[in-house]
This record gives sequence, structure tokens and C-alpha cells, in this order.
Amino acid sequence: MSLSSPNATTLPPLPANFDVAVEFPITRRWTFFNHAGVAPISGRAASEIERFAREARDDSYLTGRWYQKIELVRKQAADFIGAAPEELAFVKNTSEGIAFVANGLDWKAGDEIISTSVEYPSNVYPWIDVAQRYGAKHIMLPEVDARVDIQSIFQAVTPRTRMIALSHVEYASGFRHDIAAIGQFCRTRGILLCVDGIQACGVLPVDVRAMNIDFLSADGHKWLLGPEGAGIFYCRKDLLTSLRPEIGWMNVVNANDYGHYDFTLRTDARRFECGSHNIPGILALGASMQLLSDIGLDIVMGRVLGLTAQICAGLAQKSYTVISSRRDHETSGIVSFKSRSHNHAQIINQLEKQKIIIVEREGRLRVSPHFYQSTDDINRLLNALPDDAAASRA
Ligand SMILES: Cc1ncc(COP(=O)(O)O)c(C=O)c1O
Repeated sequence: MSLSSPNATTLPPLPANFDVAVEFPITRRWTFFNHAGVAPISGRAASEIERFAREARDDSYLTGRWYQKIELVRKQAADFIGAAPEELAFVKNTSEGIAFVANGLDWKAGDEIISTSVEYPSNVYPWIDVAQRYGAKHIMLPEVDARVDIQSIFQAVTPRTRMIALSHVEYASGFRHDIAAIGQFCRTRGILLCVDGIQACGVLPVDVRAMNIDFLSADGHKWLLGPEGAGIFYCRKDLLTSLRPEIGWMNVVNANDYGHYDFTLRTDARRFECGSHNIPGILALGASMQLLSDIGLDIVMGRVLGLTAQICAGLAQKSYTVISSRRDHETSGIVSFKSRSHNHAQIINQLEKQKIIIVEREGRLRVSPHFYQSTDDINRLLNALPDDAAASRA
């Protein structure tokens, strides 16, 4: 069945001066639907890395003013998630930020950490480790029909619950937790909320203050369109000194007074930055965040949710089983689906031959488009997918 006919999907328009081929040259070679995996970096992020390489090659650190620029990115990143710059540290990946929480808090035997059984491992192993080291209890709630009902989370809470640790968006289903409701629940009960934000930041609204998030960690290499190895970690102001950081030369108050050993830790989020920064990565991340801000996050989100709706409608027409929740406010940039009659690996291979990229996660095919893509791109995918066998009637 061909789906190239004009369809009803209308997306919020991109600014007239936005040149897709300049910002996303990948579109010349691939129809790329794995932004939930490792996204292409934007053209302006690539330019930052090139500029850094030239400066580092020609002048070492003398002309680039890199550390001043990093502080500008810190402010920009903090604004992006509704935090203060003092609450934001740069990290090398999502895992590092979550590890700061897991390794930094004063856990007690019997503390309970509620999470799900469908988290990416970066939000599983640190809590298993805490459970093993301190005698804490790590509770992994299952998903039902690719959703984790908020009531099941609330019902799992006991007087010993110390933390709820969730991905804002689950990587294999695309299920979006109602973090604002969970945050409000946690705050009124003195429970900490730690969020793996990598599948939400850059595509869905994330406001750490409005959502009552205590800790959030996200690398930049997915929806934020930055390179791997440069991410952000938010720690709520009141909790900064309750996390014991890894110690290096840079997280103390007089870091540049090298020979005068004053081991006084900073009280802002820079206390988590123990040594030299990933400068090109952070500057590139800043450039991509600027792009997303220039486009406007409401437009970014509107386009992505429009594209995912188009995918789901087309998949249903082709008799595929859409796994992702389509309920209001539970959707995200991820659509997971299954074929009844085709081998998933073969589908992926056939698509790749046509320069279309999707992936498989946990036995589901996963498509994750970003804002710069179009309804034509989605039609290309849908047309390339073979019809699936319709479900037999019971
Ligand atoms: C929910 C989630 N968290 C974390 C990661 C990656 O973690 P890190 O940034 O530590 O490499 C992924 C990558 O797929 C993910 O989907």
C-alpha cells in the first residue's frame, strides 16, 4: 500500500531562514530515525568543534576564551531546563550524573529506591550497587502494555522510600512519565526524585523547578543534537552539599591556586567537576541548544509529535502493532512497534539498503524522528515498510 498521497499531517512550520541541508547535512545521505540512539550533531555544533580544533592547533588555549564560553553554556543549559547556573554541572554522560547521586548520598540500610524494570541500564546498575553496598532496597516496577501506571508508583511508596529514580521517557517504549505529578507527590513526602532526562531534553518541555525534580542527568547526544561525551547534571540547590563528589583539583574553591592546598569544596554544582572539561563537546552542545532555542521548543515538540502521530497512523494502515502509548501526555519522540509477519532484523536491513535508519530495542522496532524532518521523510519510511499481516479475528 503506497502512502505517498498527500496526508492530513500538518506540522508547525520551521522558520523561513532555516536551511535543513546546512544544519543537517545528514539529510542528503540518510533518512535517519534514531535520534533516541545517537543523533547527528547540528551543523553549528560541528562548526564549534572545527573552530575549537583550529584554535587548539594554532594557539593552544591562548585565544579561544574557552572557559568563559563554557560559563555561557552553563547559563544557557540551566535556562534550558529551568535551573540556575549554580545548580548545573557538566558531565561526560548521563551515567556520570546518576552515579553522582548514587555514590554521593548517605544511604542507610533499608532505604528504598523505586524505579521500573524497563529502564536503560544507566538507571539500573547504580541502584543495584547501592542496594548491594548499603542494604538498600531497589524496587523495579514492571510496565503493563508499555506503560508504567503512575498509581503503581505511588502504591509502591512506603515510609522507607528515599528516592524515585525514573527516565522521563522510557527508551524502549517511548512512554513518558508524568514527571510533574510524580515530582509534586515526592516533594510533599520528602522523597527524592532523580530523573534520567536524556530521552526528553531537547524535545519535550523539562522544567526542573516546576516539575520538582531533585536531580537530572542527560548527555547531549540524542535530542539535544550534541556530540557524545558532553552532558548536563542538575542538582537542586538545597541538595548540593548533601552529595559527596569525586574529588579532583577543580572542585575546590581555590582551584587555580595550585600550590596552596585548601581542600574546601565549592558549594555550587561545580563541586561535581573534578578536572578539565570536554571543551569542544560542551561548546558544541551549547551551539545545538541555541539552535533548538532559536527554533523554539514548542515548535520542535509540535513537529516531533506530529511526525510520530503520522508514523503511528501509517503503521496502523499497514497492520503493524504500535506498542507505544498514544495517550495524551504519554507520547514522546519514540514510536515502538512490532511486526507479526516479518523478521525485525530483515526489516532493518531492507530499510538500510534504502538509506533509512531505524533500530530494534527489546524486541520492538523503534523509530525516533527529530524536528528537522518532514512528512515526506515519514512517507518514505512507511512506503518502504512491507505490509504486515493483519491480526486474525478471534
Ligand atoms: C534512557 C537512557 N539513559 C541513558 C542512556 C545513555 O547513557 P550515557 O549518556 O551514560 O551513555 C541512554 C542511551 O540509549 C538512554 O536511552
